[in-house]
Amino acid sequence: MSRFLSPLLGKCETPPPIWLMRQAGRYLPEYRELRKTAGSFLNLCYSPEMAAEVTLQPIRRYGFDASILFSDILVVPDALGQEVRFVEGEGPRLDPITEAAGLKKLDRSATTEKFGRVCETVARLKQDLPKGTALIGFCGAPWTVATYMVGGRGSPDQAAARLFAYKDPVGFQRLMDILVSVSIDYLSQQVQAGADALQIFDSWAGSLPESEFDRWVIAPTAKIRQALAKQHPDIPVIGFPRGAGMTTLKFVQQTGVDGVSCDTAMPLAFMSDQLSAAGVAVQGNLDPLLLVSGGKALDHAVDAILDAMRGKRFIFNLGHGIVPQTPPEHVARLVERVRQNGV
Ligand code: CP3
Repeated sequence: MSRFLSPLLGKCETPPPIWLMRQAGRYLPEYRELRKTAGSFLNLCYSPEMAAEVTLQPIRRYGFDASILFSDILVVPDALGQEVRFVEGEGPRLDPITEAAGLKKLDRSATTEKFGRVCETVARLKQDLPKGTALIGFCGAPWTVATYMVGGRGSPDQAAARLFAYKDPVGFQRLMDILVSVSIDYLSQQVQAGADALQIFDSWAGSLPESEFDRWVIAPTAKIRQALAKQHPDIPVIGFPRGAGMTTLKFVQQTGVDGVSCDTAMPLAFMSDQLSAAGVAVQGNLDPLLLVSGGKALDHAVDAILDAMRGKRFIFNLGHGIVPQTPPEHVARLVERVRQNGV
């Protein structure tokens, strides 16, 4: 079994397994090279040969314990017919759906072809990955995907989606129900194609008051978790409720996830005590900017995380994705240190 999977399945692994969110991407020269030839970013996501190659690039360089499928959370709205464009230097753009009437535009039957292409990438990777390197499939959590569908772009406060949910909770629930159901199918297809584990990215979970957090973060994630448990009982699921702070404990208890990814602000004591005691694997949470700075600051922070999580079911990761200005040699230094000092 892959070293990555054992903390998720109940065992402490020494040194802890390591992979990094956004481990494939613009900080790698070989990614930038291939990206130039790919046309649009989504074309790269939908081209199995190129997407598989990009997934493998960081594995060749660093020998991470897990790979993550190269794709994007916004493949889901795009496949539903709400076309997504990535504007260079600005991020994603969608024609916003700001009221329930807009949901009519979404067409589930259109997802088959695009999800099929992503799953072909998964199947290729299954063949090409080194034995012992796990393959993580993923999707965005319904709340986070909805923030882009309703806002039409990324925003610091997710105001458009929060307003939709307050003004028309029944209509917003319909959007969430669609996303729950499509996400279950999408993740299940990734497992059938060969994914060994799944991660659900809720990058904007931190913008909601507690009652809305229960309704739009915990409940949809729990539904997805339960459906997958029925279809694929052996496949572990990691949740990433970024920014959830102390409500992360309730998230873990009520969603039934096998692992929880913690953001940079999560205190190490909370991870090693409360979250570990809840019976899940804990993943995280190095500040991605320490990977830019490197040096002593990086070394000390890595050691502090390793010390806090020693003896626990732990997976080393960042608190959020690698940023493009990260020097690739700092990633090598990090992997080496985790493997040396994480014993
Ligand atoms: O290596 C991996 O982690 C796998 C691939 C992956 C990407 N995006 C590739 C990507 C994964 C798992 C994601 C998840 C994702 N995408 C999230 C959740 C995690 C998080 O970062 O909070 C979100 C919110 C998105 C939506 C998204 N995709 C945005 C806001 C952007 C633009 C910002 C940016 O960094 O450019 C993207 C584009 C994107 N997704 C890139 C990559 C490598 C860069 C696009 C490019 O190469 O031109």
